Amino acid sequence: MPLGWGSCSVARLSSDRRPPGGSYRQEGRQAAGYNARIPSAAEPHAMSIEQLAETARAMVAPGKGIIAIDESSATCKKRFDGVGIECSEENRRAYRELLLTAPNANQYLSGAILFDETLRQSTKDGVPFAKYMMDNGMIPGIKVDKGTVPLAGFPGELVTEGLDGLRDRLKEYYKLGARFAKWRAVITIGDDIPSGTCIEANSHALARYAALCQEQGLVPMVEPEVLMDGDHDIGTCYEVTEVVLRSLFDALYNQSVMLEGTILKASMVVPGKGCAEQASVEEVAESTLMCLKSAVPAILPGIVFLSGGQSDEAATAHLDAMNRMGPNPWPLSFSYGRAMQQAALKLWAQDMQGNYAKAQQTVFE
Ligand code: 13P
Repeated sequence: MPLGWGSCSVARLSSDRRPPGGSYRQEGRQAAGYNARIPSAAEPHAMSIEQLAETARAMVAPGKGIIAIDESSATCKKRFDGVGIECSEENRRAYRELLLTAPNANQYLSGAILFDETLRQSTKDGVPFAKYMMDNGMIPGIKVDKGTVPLAGFPGELVTEGLDGLRDRLKEYYKLGARFAKWRAVITIGDDIPSGTCIEANSHALARYAALCQEQGLVPMVEPEVLMDGDHDIGTCYEVTEVVLRSLFDALYNQSVMLEGTILKASMVVPGKGCAEQASVEEVAESTLMCLKSAVPAILPGIVFLSGGQSDEAATAHLDAMNRMGPNPWPLSFSYGRAMQQAALKLWAQDMQGNYAKAQQTVFE
């Protein structure tokens, strides 16, 4: 069994912080200095709670989701190598343009998560991607974490880096047009892992980044990804995901993050890829919903899912089943990377000029 989960419990938010007869939420926030942290109207990036909440709600508008095209250049190289495309800056730009300018993209997409390089790039006609998106009703987002490194003292576990200098980077991203920002934490399931230490370290970093985002007027998209790697069963994934989410919302509360202006990017509750017993669509949908309902506050404006290595068909079927099982406390939508891109990338690689339009069509098929 993973160690130390008990220390992450939401029980820490209980009686000592609950005012007798008063509003638990308001008093708790005041005690945590919540009001003092909101930027004043005179600041260039001042953003009221209502503006952040409005952006967050728009990110999960009915029938729309978010495409993740925020692969670092190294990850992009892996994907391009897989289909035989040279990973040049121009090819990365052209591929992102293909995705963002697909016909009717704004009918299905509320926004896109971009990589630093992409936020600075433009369409071939010279329109910055962020401007193109805003002109077409899509919200530009940006990946702001700097990736994972091994967690010292905890073999096999990872912690995400990127907090140093983040305030200044967020200021610049806001100026470049980004209105939300993603940070991905990675939790691995294995023998005796995840440890409570790994879960807490990642939750703490997620909460620090989320508070900085809101200070700078960007909606944080907090992503604690429980990996599908391994041979664990669906029950183990459920238990780990629940503990991770409880730890995350505990940390967000402690860092005075406004949940109304926050989006959760969650992994689904699925068996490990190597598990002999795979789960049905209904089982995945039911387990994921139950897990989320037990750990995610209803005030959150929405939850989007990563695909995490699921096929596009599986990721779509699972999300569809969860929505059919509603009504749910929050809008549920997608923020897929691989599941939305695989088919388009393959087609484009076969004939970059000739298949351009066909590849665009497959993105929303
Ligand atoms: P996948 O859907 O390919 O898992 O990517 C989503 C993402 O943004 C991971 O951080």
